[in-house]
Amino acid sequence: MSETGFRERVFSGVQPSGNLTLGNYLGAIRRFVEMQESGKETIYCVVDLHAITVWQDPEKLDRATRELTAGFLAAGLDPDRSILFNQSQVPAHAELAWIFNCVARMGWLNRMTQFKDKAGKNRENASVGLFVYPNLMAADILAYHATHVPVGEDQKQHLELTRDIAAKFNHDFADRIAALGLGKGDEGGFFPLPEPVIEGAATRVMSLRDGTKKMSKSDPSDMSRINLVDSDETIARKIRKAKTDPEPLPSEPAGLEGRPEAKNLVNILAALEGKSPAAVLAEHGGKPFSAFKPVLAEAIIAEIGPIRDRMAEILDGPAEIDRILAEGAERAEAIAGPIVDQVHDIVGFVRSRR
Ligand code: TRP
Repeated sequence: MSETGFRERVFSGVQPSGNLTLGNYLGAIRRFVEMQESGKETIYCVVDLHAITVWQDPEKLDRATRELTAGFLAAGLDPDRSILFNQSQVPAHAELAWIFNCVARMGWLNRMTQFKDKAGKNRENASVGLFVYPNLMAADILAYHATHVPVGEDQKQHLELTRDIAAKFNHDFADRIAALGLGKGDEGGFFPLPEPVIEGAATRVMSLRDGTKKMSKSDPSDMSRINLVDSDETIARKIRKAKTDPEPLPSEPAGLEGRPEAKNLVNILAALEGKSPAAVLAEHGGKPFSAFKPVLAEAIIAEIGPIRDRMAEILDGPAEIDRILAEGAERAEAIAGPIVDQVHDIVGFVRSRR
């Protein structure tokens, strides 16, 4: 229990987008699995409701959900210690999102840069769901009274919106929250103001063809990324062909300025070895890429290889994956259901059935 009166609880969501990459692994999956050791309760959600804000082929969506689940399990997520489930199996998310649609203001959502980026010029044709996506994300987090949210830098604005929604709800309903005795901590709010836990730069993996762009499953060039399903040979070849510059590696991080590709490769090795980029450069500074790349390829293969093989085994038994998701959903429901019931009481909905 923290001084805010809320129990420390980690929540994060990942979209089931298919074709997991080294970027998803280092930036999210591995970090989330490590947080199991933090002593806080950990809840991870495969956000299929978020995925359909843009068109998803139904047959690929269910497969992507099982693949992401298998990725978490292969990376060491323990379904007894963490709660792992897919969003659509817990109605509390969609239910609370509706209420938040009525708390959040148009002006707040109009400022969301991710919507502008994703909708592009074709704003009129974007789904309404894409516009209110951040309200659903706030519902994901607040339905659990989560206090810590590990996310990438690009989600920071959505976390700020989540805090704004929590604060407005606490404020608008303050009298009712107090009358029902549902306030917590010194502030007496019903919702906590969750903290983002932002990944370090070293875990942000960039494209192997362009060090200024994020590694992405949707990049047309497969050579730009390491997929979690790539064979050892494919990984070695992609690293061998990764874009670099003609200079040898510098011996200090300052020497990586203006060399995004070199910086990316150093960051990847640093993340894999659990070291700082400075420590990697202290060891490898002065080497040409022809000497550094084999070291990097080997480190990636050593980490990803066993996970890839384990993932394939897990995916061989989809019934077991579905069982784990069902059990996770039940445990998630047991936390979020009563919280959303209390929200109904606070808002003034008659609740005579449960
Ligand atoms: N929007 C997040 C992303 O694209 C995914 C997400 C959905 C999420 N709900 C969440 C992350 C709740 C953290 C907490 O990365």
